[in-house]
Amino acid sequence: MNDILVSMKGIDKQFPGVRALNKCNFELKAGEVHALVGENGAGKSTLMKILTGVYRKDGGTIFYKGNSVDIPDTRTARELGISIIHQELQLMPDLTVAQNIYIGREPKKYRGLLTDEKKLNEQASALFAELNARLDPKAKVAGLTVAMQQMVEISKALSFRSEVLIMDEPTAALTDGEIDDLFRVIEQLREKGVGIVYISHRMDELKRITDRITVMRDGCYVDTVETSGVDVDDIITMMVGRQIYAVSRPDITEVSEEKVLEVNNLSRGTAVKNVSFHLKKGEILGFAGLMGAGRTEVARAIFAAESPDEGEIYVHGKRVRIKTPADAVKHGIGYLSEDRKRYGLMVDMDVKSNISIATLRKYRKAFGWMKREAIRKEAEERVAELNIKTPGVNQIVKFLSGGNQQKVVIGKWLTRDSDILMIDEPTRGIDVGAKAEIYKLLDDLVSQGKSIIMISSELPEVLRMSHRVLVMCEGRITGELSREEATQEAIMKYATMRGDARVVAGQG
Ligand SMILES: Nc1ncnc2c1ncn2[C@@H]1O[C@H](COP(=O)(O)OP(=O)(O)OP(=O)(O)O)[C@@H](O)[C@H]1O
Ligand SMILES: [Mg+2]
Repeated sequence: MNDILVSMKGIDKQFPGVRALNKCNFELKAGEVHALVGENGAGKSTLMKILTGVYRKDGGTIFYKGNSVDIPDTRTARELGISIIHQELQLMPDLTVAQNIYIGREPKKYRGLLTDEKKLNEQASALFAELNARLDPKAKVAGLTVAMQQMVEISKALSFRSEVLIMDEPTAALTDGEIDDLFRVIEQLREKGVGIVYISHRMDELKRITDRITVMRDGCYVDTVETSGVDVDDIITMMVGRQIYAVSRPDITEVSEEKVLEVNNLSRGTAVKNVSFHLKKGEILGFAGLMGAGRTEVARAIFAAESPDEGEIYVHGKRVRIKTPADAVKHGIGYLSEDRKRYGLMVDMDVKSNISIATLRKYRKAFGWMKREAIRKEAEERVAELNIKTPGVNQIVKFLSGGNQQKVVIGKWLTRDSDILMIDEPTRGIDVGAKAEIYKLLDDLVSQGKSIIMISSELPEVLRMSHRVLVMCEGRITGELSREEATQEAIMKYATMRGDARVVAGQG
């Protein structure tokens, strides 16, 4: 018996100006978890979109269970038993969770005239029980966090009971607990003989759950290896084609004593409870904590994306009243949201408009071509600096790879002239090489006298970047650590500290 489910051979794909895939190979066995890795723009999503009928290949052959197949559309893929959880979430915001999962195949009543909502919700609940997901089938998707939306996508893909399941960065927005649940489900599926393709930039996950790893670089197939036979550094070297040394904690820039931002007793519902802290000029203040600890909510409350119930905000020592995000921007506060699709990016516009939209004011006085020139030049600088993989600044953003879209949003906020920048999960979905670039940019910004609040769930990132770390748990600040005191253990201790205590380490 042949246990090879999928074999893709010599796959080619050309987009206008971009050779996305160049004679790519990929093979998936029944009952294996197979990682697909490579830098942003390497072609991972494109290869899997070809397997699922989203794109048509220009050349090459796909074998499914030994037979050459044609997969012209997504329905064909699904009928063959291949489903995918896309990197860009594709839910309908105005429908409920259950409606999204069973869209187009809802259980019917009255001779098929009406959707049987009760049955629909029951089916969804059963699915969530399997996944251990705390989701309400009747909730509107628009109101869900990114993590919850991701769980909906995962549930939806599982509901097809496919033999091949592709997960394109499924854990990007999940909490550790949710990741454990997902891995448990993956384990069950593997035992049932399902073949799983797992795309991720989180190298630690590969060792945990994958059997084999295929590496891609610049649209080309590099190699396929057994996970047990390699270490993470080998994989990274294969991905980027050169050795990257682990980024050690560098000497860090001096911070002045000047307080640029002070927040007193900020509260909003149960999400933010009595949060007080300050940010100094030239400082990177890390916000650590488990997902759902309230870090994003603090940033959103300061930015007035959600109005706080109470609290005082001082900018450069002066009390300010921030009623709308526009007020925040006027006071020099910028916010790079973790939900970039919803708040950060105009996917139907080109790279240069996205990057310069925040700074158009800067060019107010310029006319016609001068303005256009300035905008183009600025965008080109950002593209070079952040190494954004695009044929040019006129490319429409939705045609960029997921990670490169992230970089565009970051470019947009770096360009903007804010003194205080709040950045939420700055390197989520970003490959190892580009991470280092972003760290360097943030270091440059603070040495120019800007101040940064950095929310991050990646502890090594918090430790490397922060001058000082605040740790949150259940809406409260539970700990404050200086750079010297900050260790993974210390942070985790405060991140799981429930109750009212606020402990300042070193001061009892
Ligand atoms: N619809 C499209 N139109 C034009 N170019 C595209 C399109 N989709 C992808 N590309 C380009 O093809 C290349 C490969 O993109 P792909 O999305 O497959 O990368 P990826 O490996 O998934 O990267 P990431 O880790 O950032 O998600 C990129 O240069 C991307 O800009
Ligand atoms: Mg991708």
